[in-house]
Amino acid sequence: MLSWDDYQDEATTAPPIAPKTPEPKAAPQQAAPQPAAAEQAQPSTETSKRPAAPAGSPVARAREAVSELDPAPGLEELEMGAARVAVDEKRMINCRADVNQLVPFKYDWAWQKYLDGCANHWMPQEVNMTADIALWKSKDGLTADERRIIMRSLGYFSTADSLVANNLILAIYRHITNPEARQYLLRQAFEEAIHTHAYQYCVESLGMDEGEVFNMYREIPSVAKKAAWSINHTQGLSNPEFKTGTPETDQELLRNLIGFYAVTEGIFFYCGFTQILSMGRRNKMTGVAEQFQYILRDESMHLNFGIDVINQIKLENPHLWTEEFKQEVIQMILEGTELEIAYARDSMPRGVLGMNAAMMEEYLQFIANRRLAQLGLAEQFPGVQNPFPWMSEIMDLRKEKNFFETRVIEYQTGGALSWD
Ligand SMILES: [Fe+2]
Ligand SMILES: [Fe+2]
Repeated sequence: MLSWDDYQDEATTAPPIAPKTPEPKAAPQQAAPQPAAAEQAQPSTETSKRPAAPAGSPVARAREAVSELDPAPGLEELEMGAARVAVDEKRMINCRADVNQLVPFKYDWAWQKYLDGCANHWMPQEVNMTADIALWKSKDGLTADERRIIMRSLGYFSTADSLVANNLILAIYRHITNPEARQYLLRQAFEEAIHTHAYQYCVESLGMDEGEVFNMYREIPSVAKKAAWSINHTQGLSNPEFKTGTPETDQELLRNLIGFYAVTEGIFFYCGFTQILSMGRRNKMTGVAEQFQYILRDESMHLNFGIDVINQIKLENPHLWTEEFKQEVIQMILEGTELEIAYARDSMPRGVLGMNAAMMEEYLQFIANRRLAQLGLAEQFPGVQNPFPWMSEIMDLRKEKNFFETRVIEYQTGGALSWD
């Protein structure tokens, strides 16, 4: 692990940048000291003495452009102009205060999630895949149904996280007008890149057919329908002409946020996560399961952040949360649940790993109830229980020790470098 001492040790063995010359021994009778030669040779800093650049040269054109630069471009679009931002002016959407000033914070929870995300940093290459490679390549180590689950999961997730990342950057980001929330969006976007990396790393390690895995979101109906549902909820916002600021467009942004945070990340990920983590609990494909465990930990934070953003927008814009719109959101959650149940049936045609499609259906109904409650909506599946309580335990794990106890995860990030 690098520490500040590592850099210092290196510096002590390298020659100093500006070696000191030995102090001249002053003659006792020397007169008043003269200015040092180097001091006399100091270049003038007076700009008036700067030699002119040849007319029409690149340097002259650059100087002209800089001298004509408007010190506050685009500020006419900001109500507050160049004024300092006050907390009360900050809003999650349609805020016209300066989005470049991170502080003062209004939404401390968003900043805290950014810090928590950084503290949970991990990389796919840290996970040992050796046992997985041996098991995947063995003839009878895994059943056909277990192999099907692994293929379907990698097929769905390898492109789903790209859909989420693209939606974040190309659709959501510019409409969330709060800098601390944007700071988290940037962290989330990097985490989505790590997740796509993790799936690619699994596919490569196991020597799978990359074309088959990465095209499943177009070729396998139960996977393709989920991807198509998500993509449909990006389209309204990816139009470069789209702008929030009317009740209709603000609701369109909410549809996107609910479609991605509550449904894609909040429902579509849960059958695959449960299946792979169940496999890991049975000591099979523990490397893949460990990757999924870290991803699940990140995803539960993405989901919670998204729910908080949606609820903040509701709070600040109560006129958007109409009875009709609430019914539409319930419908979205139910559509997502149906698609995930269809995926469960397709990926699990028979009982496997101590679970079956009927148990998964109940679990997904339990998850749908949770999402509805988090959004302040009525649960639609009264009385359903969680048949996989161990999933909640995994999500609640802190970073000190992972579920499979293969190693202690201790990350030291740049912010924690020791200066002693
Ligand atoms: Fe992700
Ligand atoms: Fe995510």
